[in-house]
Amino acid sequence: MKIGADDAGNTPRWKFSTAQPFDEQRRSFLGALLALGSLCVGALLAVPLIRFALFPLLRLTTELKASPIGSLSEFSSLNEPVERTIQIEQVDGWRKAVSEKAVYITKNGQGQLRVLSSICPHLGCTVPWVSAKQEFICPCHGAVYAPDGSRISGPCLRGMDTLETVEQNGQLLVRFQYFRQLVADKEVIG
Ligand code: FES
Repeated sequence: MKIGADDAGNTPRWKFSTAQPFDEQRRSFLGALLALGSLCVGALLAVPLIRFALFPLLRLTTELKASPIGSLSEFSSLNEPVERTIQIEQVDGWRKAVSEKAVYITKNGQGQLRVLSSICPHLGCTVPWVSAKQEFICPCHGAVYAPDGSRISGPCLRGMDTLETVEQNGQLLVRFQYFRQLVADKEVIG
């Protein structure tokens, strides 16, 4: 007699059901729902975190505001450059720094006001106005500039940098900027 056969010698036919039990189906549905929910919550939490992390990269380096340097009438009778100190706020990613910079108010050949950065375009030393010689003379490597900031001599490749100005209600405002050193053409870097 064959194994598994009945008394009559017939081999039984086994039937397998492909349908899952109801409990098992419900568990997989809840599992999928939970995974989807976790994914949504994770995504929602990740957005502000990613924005927080990328903020310094996406933000423009250095927000510049114009700083007042005095009234226009004050500079109308200038006969040599005068120095003013302005406060500038530099925002660089998460770092915010307030510093003071010296600028010179002077006149160009046509008698128009112009404001010069005191930073030497050679290697960045502060250039003082030497009244006795009527020249700007850099103490670091001896660059010499005329009262209007144009280059006279020395290792620098261009004259002193002019800054953007705005006239507002009789006041002169200046927007401080940094420029690339050691190059012949003025190039803003911040
Ligand atoms: S930094 Fe001014 S001449 Fe070199």
